[in-house]
Amino acid sequence: MRSESGITEELVLRLGRARNMVVFTGSGVSRESGVPTFRGEDGLWQEHRPEELATLEAFERNPEVVWRWYDYRRRLIAEVRPNPAHEAIARLEGAFDVFTLVTQNVDGLHARAGSTRTVELHGNIWRARCMGDQDVFDLLENPLSEIPPRCKRCGSLLRPDVVWFGEPMPPEAYDASYEAASSCDAMLVVGTSALVRPAASLPLVAKHNGAFVIEVNITYTPISVLIDASLIGKAGEVVPELVERLLRVVGEARESAPSPGGVKEHARP
Ligand code: OAD
Repeated sequence: MRSESGITEELVLRLGRARNMVVFTGSGVSRESGVPTFRGEDGLWQEHRPEELATLEAFERNPEVVWRWYDYRRRLIAEVRPNPAHEAIARLEGAFDVFTLVTQNVDGLHARAGSTRTVELHGNIWRARCMGDQDVFDLLENPLSEIPPRCKRCGSLLRPDVVWFGEPMPPEAYDASYEAASSCDAMLVVGTSALVRPAASLPLVAKHNGAFVIEVNITYTPISVLIDASLIGKAGEVVPELVERLLRVVGEARESAPSPGGVKEHARP
């Protein structure tokens, strides 16, 4: 069921039947807010590729250049707003018995849109970690007054509390995302190139466990042929329409469901 033309009724009904729903997002969901994606031309910063900057080796070699890149991204993210895709995903939370948002993004835009049941797989750009004692805390100063910033307690270098290339994901976040992917009935994958493993394998874990899996992306991805449907279009346009129709279907199903006493809601006097 691949659909370039749009969202089919059957697709909405299949998603609407889920009791346990996972939404899995990547940087494409924030693209229409103005946050550059990692891959593609707009992923470059002063001719550096993220792969050259987002590593422990790069940080150890030159913490200043890495922090200047993060300071630039923090300033950019602070200036943008969640877009209709973030807002629609936040509205979905209450529609399912079990709902988990798993994001690879570090920008915090899902939280700003109102999402609360969120697993951040790659950390958060507004937190820092002390290279000395590994303490993690919010670092909200923007722009940073000191680059690279240092721990106020021990003077050690701070690093962004994000997952860099070659680093494992935080075990609690990975376990929570794996558990969500293997137990969900449906998964909506939005704006990820599905290239960076192990996060990218979550849709396949869901599919393998019998979930109905669809993606929203401006292009087909390596997982397109392995999942149930690909909706080709911008997240900020496709996701709100899909969520709108999904909420209608879920709302109708709730209204016609038997009440605890066995009498249908609408049949009450
Ligand atoms: P990528 O930059 O790899 O992929 C972004 C995806 O979003 C691509 O598939 C685009 O086609 C799609 N896209 C772009 N604009 C879109 C739009 N308006 N609507 C819908 N889709 C759109 O980003 P991620 O898949 O998130 O990891 O990358 C995963 C991880 O790799 C990131 O979290 C980061 C990166 O390196 C770490 O920092 C550890």
